[in-house]
Amino acid sequence: MRILITGAAGFIGYHLAVSLNQSGHGLVLVDNLQRGRMDSEFKELINRPNVTYHEADLTESGVYESVGDGVEQVYHLAAINGTENFYNIPDQVLRVNVLSTLNLLEWARDRAVKILFSSTSETYAGTIRLMDGWIPTAEDVPLCIDDIQNVRWSYGASKILAEAAFYSYARVCPIQFSIIRYHNIYGPRMGFEHVMPQFLERILTAQLPLEVFGGIETRAFCHVRDAVAATRFVMDSPKTDGEVVHIGNSREEVAIRDLATLMLEMCGADTTLQIKEAPAGSVNRRCPDVSKLRELGYESQVSLREGLETMIPWYREHFERAGA
Ligand SMILES: NC(=O)c1ccc[n+]([C@@H]2O[C@H](COP(=O)([O-])OP(=O)(O)OC[C@H]3O[C@@H](n4cnc5c(N)ncnc54)[C@H](O)[C@@H]3O)[C@@H](O)[C@H]2O)c1
Repeated sequence: MRILITGAAGFIGYHLAVSLNQSGHGLVLVDNLQRGRMDSEFKELINRPNVTYHEADLTESGVYESVGDGVEQVYHLAAINGTENFYNIPDQVLRVNVLSTLNLLEWARDRAVKILFSSTSETYAGTIRLMDGWIPTAEDVPLCIDDIQNVRWSYGASKILAEAAFYSYARVCPIQFSIIRYHNIYGPRMGFEHVMPQFLERILTAQLPLEVFGGIETRAFCHVRDAVAATRFVMDSPKTDGEVVHIGNSREEVAIRDLATLMLEMCGADTTLQIKEAPAGSVNRRCPDVSKLRELGYESQVSLREGLETMIPWYREHFERAGA
């Protein structure tokens, strides 16, 4: 099958492409490298037979026409995320996340393709700030921006609008789609902006003792191998057409302090944590309800410890190379 992946040079897109290529699919990969990286791993992937790469900006009209010929499935992962971007370039966050999706939907109007759209827990982050008792959070929770003046929500708003666009287009044309909402995916090559790589950077470059701000808040992390398998599972299941499915791992919710301690132990660092005051406004608990995914037939396989075992060597090698 010929499959298009947007945002393929990014974290999840790259791992998804490797997995689909291993299953023998022909791939068309698109990215504009706004956040994705043309590193040795991505270069090796795009040089494989049966893989075509286009460096293109999906907000420009006509791009899908020039890359989408013969495609039967589209994994739409291209987006601008990253908390700093929500504050610094909220206009671009909205423009890219919405326009790249509307262009895709316009192209798909009269085509027999299935689209899988990657949304986020940020679509309901406002809801769980307002209401207690909706954690673990299921797919049918109301989506909400609790402060429209706070540009922090540019990303959540863009994904809410994009989710709504799928239902609106599907009302008037025969678009086949599923929406997934990722929850704290981690693994090798995930970039350097998230709590896990930031802890690893400080541990592996000996910026110790390890400072943790607050750290009693809990998160549920899902390894990218599970995220990719679940993503493919949702795309291929006929039961998920027109459905929203949460992808995450609710089995090992962990306090950020405990995560830091585990990382120190696994990296062999002989030190303790230095606990600092928690930053204002951090959410105490986030955890997806993944029973819908489980009932469909997919259960996460990778434990936190196993997942970190795949991640630590990648970051160790990266920081050693950067320091050399
Ligand atoms: N990683 C997570 O835990 C997580 C959580 C929730 C949602 N998501 C969503 O899943 C998707 C993949 O996430 P990720 O972590 O791999 O993100 P990522 O930033 O690593 O990848 C996104 C890719 O999209 C590309 N892109 C951005 N603008 C583009 C444009 N105009 N044209 C073409 N390409 C463009 C970027 O260069 C990047 O390579 C995103 O849509 C993200 O919003 C991810």
